[in-house]
Amino acid sequence: LLRKLTVLDSVDSTNAEAMRHRAPGSSSGLAYTAEQQSAGRGRRGRQWVSPFARNIYLSLVWEFSQGAAALEGLSLAVGVAVANALQACGAPPLQLKWPNDVLCNGAKLGGILLEMTGDAAGNCQVVVGVGLNVSMPESAAENIEQAWTDVARICGNKPPSRNRLLAALLDELLPLLDGFEAGGFAPWREAWMALDAYADTAVVLHSAESRQAGIARGVDERGALQLETTLGLQSIFGGEISMRPV
Ligand code: BTN
Repeated sequence: LLRKLTVLDSVDSTNAEAMRHRAPGSSSGLAYTAEQQSAGRGRRGRQWVSPFARNIYLSLVWEFSQGAAALEGLSLAVGVAVANALQACGAPPLQLKWPNDVLCNGAKLGGILLEMTGDAAGNCQVVVGVGLNVSMPESAAENIEQAWTDVARICGNKPPSRNRLLAALLDELLPLLDGFEAGGFAPWREAWMALDAYADTAVVLHSAESRQAGIARGVDERGALQLETTLGLQSIFGGEISMRPV
């Protein structure tokens, strides 16, 4: 499933690099990783702190033929796959925060950023970006705006190497991408629910236009957050929304 893995010393963003190299009909299985990113991209226009030789910055390209609508839930399934990869490397129990932050005891260990091109109904190419904090220097972390952690801190005295983590990520992510169009999110839902950091928690959803309060009740078969509100159960799709505890 892996066609080519490119390891770069330095790049603006592995997602940007992957976007530059994707070509319709021949991109599935291309992977880009780098020792550092000068313009690492996070969700909601944020930067992703990406110091040299400390963490993992990985982007995979995959092509789908049934359009972007069939890919709802993919980023949540990627979260499960990343948690599985870490667990296979000996990490302690992890949690996921909708839509797809990877947490350990409430602190952010990794993030996922999907970028898509192509038409809503037909061929589309997806870049799956995964950033994993492995051994984040305190000096670099000054720019991180939320509680964070890294593999070195959570794995005690024998943390897995970046090589091992990268191999485990590829082992989990490539089969997921290969099978997602046929199976969708449904087969991943139960595993996602078991990792849900905010199950039955009072939250407020923040988007550019609005705030919405409710109780998080997991996700449905398409990956939409189930928010219990005074108006009933609402299905919320990802995008540029953030969720905060009340
Ligand atoms: C988030 O905001 O939680 C998502 C962060 C995603 C970061 C990764 S690092 C590899 C890839 N390249 C980027 O520029 N971003 C993603």
